[in-house]
Amino acid sequence: MYKSILTFLFALLFVWGMTPQDTPKDYLQADFHKQRRDEVRKLLPPNTAVVLFANAERNRANDVDYVYHQDPNFYYLTGYHEPNAVLVLFSEMQTDAFGNRFNEIIYVQERNAKAEQWTGKRLGVEGVKKELGFDMVFNGKEFENFPLDFSSFDVVSFVDFQNDYRDKSGNADLFDLIKKFKEKANYPSNYNPTRNQLYAMISAADNDNSGDLVETIEKALEQHPELKDDALLNDYVNAANDDLRTEVKNTVLVVQSESNLDSSILPRAMAQLREIKTPEEIKLLKKAVEISSVGQIEVMKAMHPNMSETEIQGVHEYVYKKYGAEYEGYPSIVGGGNNGCILHYIENNKTKVGNDLVLMDLGAEYHGYTADVTRTIPANGKFTPEQKAIYDIVYDAQEAGIKASVPGATFKGVHTASYQVVAKGLMDLGIIKDEKEAKIYFPHSTSHYLGLDVHDAGTYQAFKPSTVITVEPGIYIPEGSDCDKKWWGIAVRVEDDILITENGPVNLSTMAPRTTEAIEAMMKQPSPLDAFQLPALD
Ligand code: GLY
Ligand code: MN
Ligand code: MN
Repeated sequence: MYKSILTFLFALLFVWGMTPQDTPKDYLQADFHKQRRDEVRKLLPPNTAVVLFANAERNRANDVDYVYHQDPNFYYLTGYHEPNAVLVLFSEMQTDAFGNRFNEIIYVQERNAKAEQWTGKRLGVEGVKKELGFDMVFNGKEFENFPLDFSSFDVVSFVDFQNDYRDKSGNADLFDLIKKFKEKANYPSNYNPTRNQLYAMISAADNDNSGDLVETIEKALEQHPELKDDALLNDYVNAANDDLRTEVKNTVLVVQSESNLDSSILPRAMAQLREIKTPEEIKLLKKAVEISSVGQIEVMKAMHPNMSETEIQGVHEYVYKKYGAEYEGYPSIVGGGNNGCILHYIENNKTKVGNDLVLMDLGAEYHGYTADVTRTIPANGKFTPEQKAIYDIVYDAQEAGIKASVPGATFKGVHTASYQVVAKGLMDLGIIKDEKEAKIYFPHSTSHYLGLDVHDAGTYQAFKPSTVITVEPGIYIPEGSDCDKKWWGIAVRVEDDILITENGPVNLSTMAPRTTEAIEAMMKQPSPLDAFQLPALD
């Protein structure tokens, strides 16, 4: 009896041990990723194989790697978080030698008890079948036995390799997978994705758009010295008339027909899809943005002139973690005074922000989706007249930009709307004399797509509903600028995340105070951090 009770207790403990621990329940579901794969297929030419690799593991120093982050395209299409994997999608159903029918295969990291003891659980083949809903799943080492011949496809489309991955031990790491792919797909050692893209543009060109294309090729030749001797590109640029251009185009078509490799179709398809957010994606993005907005609120309450930039960063990031955001979507930017003039300042090492403005551009990443929210606040809680004058211009510029963020509008339209307000404001203050000079103090564009990447994938065509963009004008007046000294060291950026809808722009970060009045009022609120005292250390 005693023995059976003990057995029962052990069994109970074992079951407890097996019980899955509490983890978030609001991840994207396998159905989402499957549906995205179906959407990619619709954008592929007939008889195409798409080959997409997981992100590389990158080394920080010695035996420590950076925290692994999946390639956003790979995550979008699979939901798989681990490295050393390759997804192959087909535009049509395929049949292997055993009669299996399939339109996708994924090769993943093999399970390995020893490795998992050190670096955490792997899904493995069975886990990927069960959790991610794939049918054809193999260990990476099986990629060697890929059941089809890549040469039988009209197009083999991939995202070209960054060549920043290492050959680790074992025989199925990213290095080996890419090497196998190159062998199997006859990848030439001089493959150049830009040339591939330009050739694709030439073969699709007609005489009406040849002027624009010549300009594009000229720019590319300047930016890619390795292409400067490419005979066909030079012939196209130098062709004296349409007939000669057509001749070059025909030669390009012949050259293209000699290889089925393509690295422009897949990135274009991913941009088209990722630009338009599904309701599930909007939910996660909204959460990331709201978490980041609460971070801004808590910092407004906690801020005082003795704070360091690092400490301010820490408060934002603590709020992110408290809400379960796994990462920051990009290195946090906290710049006091003149440091705010460095657009992507990430040293964050000023020990006291004093009475300056503090520019805080930070975004929580929640289940892969990142926010990108900037607030600029006076460390002592009150804007000086000069700070307020600059701030109000940026605020008005942002209002104009947000108003312009509607379906059918463009990034250029949003930028122009904001730029004009900045230019007029700076002229009114006597800081510049000519509209064009506003570029000196507002040197970046106003908007970008937002999603799995902070600068997200998209087509950069006219806005469509369910797109999320940032609107982020700024004015930066570094010390030594050619204007009255009283403006020196003032840097203001205000950045909000905007959902474009048929009913007008929806500001997802509206929770974070934005007017000078609202910021000053929030900064008067008590902070729980006021009571958070730590012992002094040498
Ligand atoms: N945080 C980077 C940007 O605003 O684009
Ligand atoms: Mn941004
Ligand atoms: Mn930003």
